[in-house]
Amino acid sequence: MLILGIETSCDETAAAIVESGTKIISDVRATSFISKKFGGVVPDKTAREQLKFILPVIQECLLSANRLPLTAIDALAVTFGPGLIGSLLIGVETAKTLSLALNKPIIPINHLVGHIYANWVETVPPKFPALVLLVSGGHTELILMRNHGQFKLLGRTLDDAAGECFDKCGRLLGLPYPYGPFIEQEAKKYKTKNDKYKILLPRPLINQRNLDFSFSGLKTAFLYAFQRAQESGTLTENFKAALAFELEETVTDILVSKLKRALEKFKAESILVCGGVAANQKLRKKLQSSIAHCPLYIPPISLCTDNAVYIAAAAYFSPRQVPISKITADPGLDF
Ligand code: KG4
Ligand code: ZN
Repeated sequence: MLILGIETSCDETAAAIVESGTKIISDVRATSFISKKFGGVVPDKTAREQLKFILPVIQECLLSANRLPLTAIDALAVTFGPGLIGSLLIGVETAKTLSLALNKPIIPINHLVGHIYANWVETVPPKFPALVLLVSGGHTELILMRNHGQFKLLGRTLDDAAGECFDKCGRLLGLPYPYGPFIEQEAKKYKTKNDKYKILLPRPLINQRNLDFSFSGLKTAFLYAFQRAQESGTLTENFKAALAFELEETVTDILVSKLKRALEKFKAESILVCGGVAANQKLRKKLQSSIAHCPLYIPPISLCTDNAVYIAAAAYFSPRQVPISKITADPGLDF
């Protein structure tokens, strides 16, 4: 079964063709320069970019699938939320138009659920129940997935997401958008020899038994450490790298520790990590070295950040067809 997935929830315009939920036939993405230029997403400008890219991206997706005719698609899948309303509308209305013109079913997909299904692509299917750590720019959640389409929220951030924390701190350091990968690069520059810095960032909620997260205090502590160094004239390049290093250490410690706590409380046959922050090498290494007794799934880096492959994969495993008159973009959609 061939599904054409469409993803336009934020500033990535993506289309993909996936066979039977697991095999990538084609994967095309266009990233807007607008966010880079402004150092963050500008919703109305981003929506205009989505509009400009959507048809060429779908066209390119079919071309790179060995010139597959659109009529050979069995179904369409589209992200209908959460995200930016202007961006979501472009994908949703495009998918509805194609569905109507081709007389093909359409499966609306929650972007968060989509991220989870990156763990089904080109790999052995995970077993249920699965414990999910979803870490993206807007979400930090622990979820118990009992089966396809069955999600129980165990804990979430009480304020900012882990990705947001990386983004705001990266911006403060003067790094380019998208900040996460650049924080990672910056942290690698840190020369720990003759280390004289003592940057101690807080690890909020880490010792509490609940499965919630909090990153806003950490963000503020980072700001204060930055400002103190600025005022005392010690904000050297190596100090900035040290800050990035400590931030990465702290965020990844929190994520790993809460995941381990969830694993103590809930029986799981597999652990699924997903979302843009799952691309972080330090997080991947810490998870791999600290989780021994349960199969750990982390998608390849290319499937962690936003794409349409996981949207098509999710649609295959939760094939809830909805009439087009009932499909609307829902920016505030939750689990
Ligand atoms: O899943 P995603 O592409 O978009 C959302 O749905 O939010 O995640 C984007 C987030 C951003 O906050 C970005 O800084 C973060 O993922 N990110 C990373 C890395 N790559 C992306 N954070 C840390 N290390 C990375 N390598
Ligand atoms: Zn995402």
